[in-house]
Amino acid sequence: MNPANGSIGVFDSGIGGLSVANAVSRLLPRESILYVADNGRAPYGPQPPEAILAYSREITTALLASGAKMIVVACNTATAVAIDALRQEYPAVPFVGMEPALKPAAEGKRIGVLATAATLSSERYLALKDRYLSKQEVLEDACVGLVPIIEAEVPGSPRLRHTLKKILMPMVAKGIDTLVLGCTHYPMVQADIAAVCGENVRIIDPSVAAAKQVARLLPYPFVGTSGRAHNFYCTGGSVSLQRTLLGLPDLNGDRALVVPNLKLKNLPNGG
Ligand code: DGL
Repeated sequence: MNPANGSIGVFDSGIGGLSVANAVSRLLPRESILYVADNGRAPYGPQPPEAILAYSREITTALLASGAKMIVVACNTATAVAIDALRQEYPAVPFVGMEPALKPAAEGKRIGVLATAATLSSERYLALKDRYLSKQEVLEDACVGLVPIIEAEVPGSPRLRHTLKKILMPMVAKGIDTLVLGCTHYPMVQADIAAVCGENVRIIDPSVAAAKQVARLLPYPFVGTSGRAHNFYCTGGSVSLQRTLLGLPDLNGDRALVVPNLKLKNLPNGG
């Protein structure tokens, strides 16, 4: 591979990582993205760490074999479980991960954290909480069933609103002033979350901060003259990804391929 032509590899269990990929695409308008949505094995959140680690390893290997010059683990769950091992296995590759934005949340007094069960029980998350939120009251919810609903439904749907109310109303009733979106799927429905929480709750979406970190660590910025192309692969069906892309002009405008039912060993070279 000519490193100058490498894509930025991004993966998640589904459409969630598009919130990060979209911010990356906006900030770095010459770079191409190679995106894997592992929706055939999602959701990751309720699964054992060993399974999440094995998926993350397999996808990272496939992305690198296809010419990715860096890897964005656009999934809080995979970051919590796998990023340390991935960094050890590929010491020359820059990795950017996602973790619940507890540091910026520390300005608040009563903090709600939405994240998957695997993230909330990870050592990484517990250490972060200890470090930044030891004086605040923290209310957590593992949002059981929410990720599949976000994959299946359009924003604003009654089923989505109903589920969000069940999760958020108890937190709002207890007076949270800050809400951390600790799973990359949740910013995809941020308008619905905000509508349930009301205007007194500050909502923290870390996508833009993650994109800035990608820009800081970017090896071999693209210097050629050809246009960029974003390629998207799903290990399951592509309906949800296609639909979501339509609402993300920063990504959709340069969309080249959307490939469903991918076998990871055969990731076509989009790098
Ligand atoms: N989007 C993912 C995250 O940021 C995982 C969702 C899931 O598959 O459970 O945690």
